[in-house]
Amino acid sequence: MKLLVLGGTKNLGRHVVEAALADGHEVTLFNRGQTNPELFPSVRRIVGDRAAPEALNDGEWDGVIDMSGFLVRDVSLSASILRDRCGHYTYMSSIAVYASKTTPGMTESAPLLPWPAGAPEDHFTMDLYGPSKVRNESLLTATFGDRTAAVRSGFVVGPYNPDFGNWGWALAHDLPMECAARPDQPIQYVDARDLAAFLLHLTVHRIPGPFNAVGPTRTMAELADAWRTAVPNPHPINWSPPEDRFHLPHNGTNDGTFQLDNTQALRAGLQLRPDEDTARDYTTWLKAGNIPPPPPH
Ligand SMILES: NC(=O)c1ccc[n+]([C@@H]2O[C@H](COP(=O)([O-])OP(=O)(O)OC[C@H]3O[C@@H](n4cnc5c(N)ncnc54)[C@H](OP(=O)(O)O)[C@@H]3O)[C@@H](O)[C@H]2O)c1
Repeated sequence: MKLLVLGGTKNLGRHVVEAALADGHEVTLFNRGQTNPELFPSVRRIVGDRAAPEALNDGEWDGVIDMSGFLVRDVSLSASILRDRCGHYTYMSSIAVYASKTTPGMTESAPLLPWPAGAPEDHFTMDLYGPSKVRNESLLTATFGDRTAAVRSGFVVGPYNPDFGNWGWALAHDLPMECAARPDQPIQYVDARDLAAFLLHLTVHRIPGPFNAVGPTRTMAELADAWRTAVPNPHPINWSPPEDRFHLPHNGTNDGTFQLDNTQALRAGLQLRPDEDTARDYTTWLKAGNIPPPPPH
């Protein structure tokens, strides 16, 4: 299949490209050539900026996987340019789309964030992250109809990706894992490789719809226990660290964000590896001398 990946050279996108190449797809990358330009030397690369994507005016693709869509204006431009020249358009969205942060068990049809009146469509600020993802999903559905999927994830964990708190680093360096959260606080994440495989699967099989691409809900304590199996003699968890590296509210005001219903994603083909495998592989990757990238904005 001919696949166009918008982005594809950073944390999660790297796994998408690796998975597509491993499955024998013909990949084209579109990015500015600034982030890890040495990656995938044999892959065709169209150099350009999302703000002016005219370089995409030529070519046809069976599928597009959009990893770099933040600004509404940019996603709108690529959608109109690619509308009649691609089969399926899979958009990497976020769990930040939901209006409620406290409701447990939200499905994909739960209420979404509104667009703040007067907010700019061509200038990114962090408070527009969730509303922009909502707008982008909606404009892609208006453009492509059933030929688009939106994939909503939160924490994305695994090689190439930022650490999960300090957990990987701590295990790799024989230090205590830290967790400022309540031990019973709900948490969900997805392994970057499982998410990449799902993005590819939706695109190749042209599966429409929004999906909560997250793992099952666990408590922080349950997840910490699973991660501790990555090394033979782990330290006890430090539940009162000086710094909260997860940057999460711990008073319940965000608990719904990590109790999303992932039934539809599982039905559509999301496959989740055990937490123990994610922890082991991430720790091994760090032990090999890799430095985790800073957390995504
Ligand atoms: N990581 C998480 O925890 C997480 C969670 C939820 C959702 N997401 C979503 O996942 C996506 C990001 O994943 P990632 O960072 O791993 O993606 P990625 O595809 O690996 O990296 C970002 C890519 O976008 C390109 N890019 C950035 N700005 C560009 C521009 N103006 N024009 C053209 N290309 C541009 C970069 O290359 P150049 O710099 O060379 O242009 C790079 O290839 C985002 O949509 C994010 O919202 C991530």
